[in-house]
Amino acid sequence: MNIREGNSELMEKIQKLKRERNAIILVHNYQIAEVHDIADYMGDSLGLSRIASGTDADVIVFCGVRFMAETASILCPDRIVLMPDINAGCPMANMITADRLRALKREHPKAQVLSYVNTSAEVKAEADICCTSTNAIEIVKSLKDVEEIIFVPDKYLSYYVSTKANHRFIPWNGYCPTHVRILPEDILRQKKAHPEALVLVHPECTPPVIQLADEALSTEGMCKYARASNASEIIVGTEIGLLYRLQKENPEKKFYPASEQAICPSMKLTTLEKVLWCLEDMRYEVKVPEEIRLKAKKAVDRMLQ
Ligand code: 13P
Ligand code: SF4
Repeated sequence: MNIREGNSELMEKIQKLKRERNAIILVHNYQIAEVHDIADYMGDSLGLSRIASGTDADVIVFCGVRFMAETASILCPDRIVLMPDINAGCPMANMITADRLRALKREHPKAQVLSYVNTSAEVKAEADICCTSTNAIEIVKSLKDVEEIIFVPDKYLSYYVSTKANHRFIPWNGYCPTHVRILPEDILRQKKAHPEALVLVHPECTPPVIQLADEALSTEGMCKYARASNASEIIVGTEIGLLYRLQKENPEKKFYPASEQAICPSMKLTTLEKVLWCLEDMRYEVKVPEEIRLKAKKAVDRMLQ
């Protein structure tokens, strides 16, 4: 039996169990190709939280990282939210804790706290409002009467958003270890190799990388842009998992990774086998304690509104 046949057997088992459990499978854009192929919904963190909040499935299998499953649990406390691999955490989200954020708030009592969704539920519970990379600029612009914004945890996204607004930003010193692997010289090398190509990068990239790009977009933003653009070649400055989706949706176009090093190890922990075991054994459940959930939900709801 070859790998493809093995996968199709696994996929059939997953589909059968999914129906029996009344489950849906949500898959982030950075997951491995096989996992993309069993998605009921594929998307970025904002899109997937919207799907989670509107689903009538009993079970949500979240193929992504922990903060995404927690956001689903915050929005749908009566659903069972499962992660196929409980060790899939986001290193950037782990760079800030609720205690450290409380200390920063005490130093800046007048500031509003804007938390990137890449944070734990405890950190969200300390925030006034959340944002994702898709809506960060829009959210900041909606904070009209606010002068100071504490932005956690990504210093690069904070800097990027601050250049599009008039507020004073107090950034946290966090960053995405995957996106900082994309270097300006990578972009220059790929531009030289593919002079006709457009360059799209994620706003978690460093400022010199963003400066070399045609657009800074979230993962979903890149998918929309690639569909609508006349460009036949695109250099993609984000986690390389997105290239599978881009290529599948636009078979006539060519996509090049800005850097082959841009791999998020946590996003690669989920496999088809783990998805099957997760449905078989109904593990690993992610459930946010009610007291934290209610506080965090205010910040997430404010973003979704
Ligand atoms: P998106 O919001 O674009 O899906 O990004 C999430 C993430 O983890 C980026 O590294
Ligand atoms: Fe976190 Fe970066 Fe991985 Fe996204 S790519 S989950 S921000 S470590």
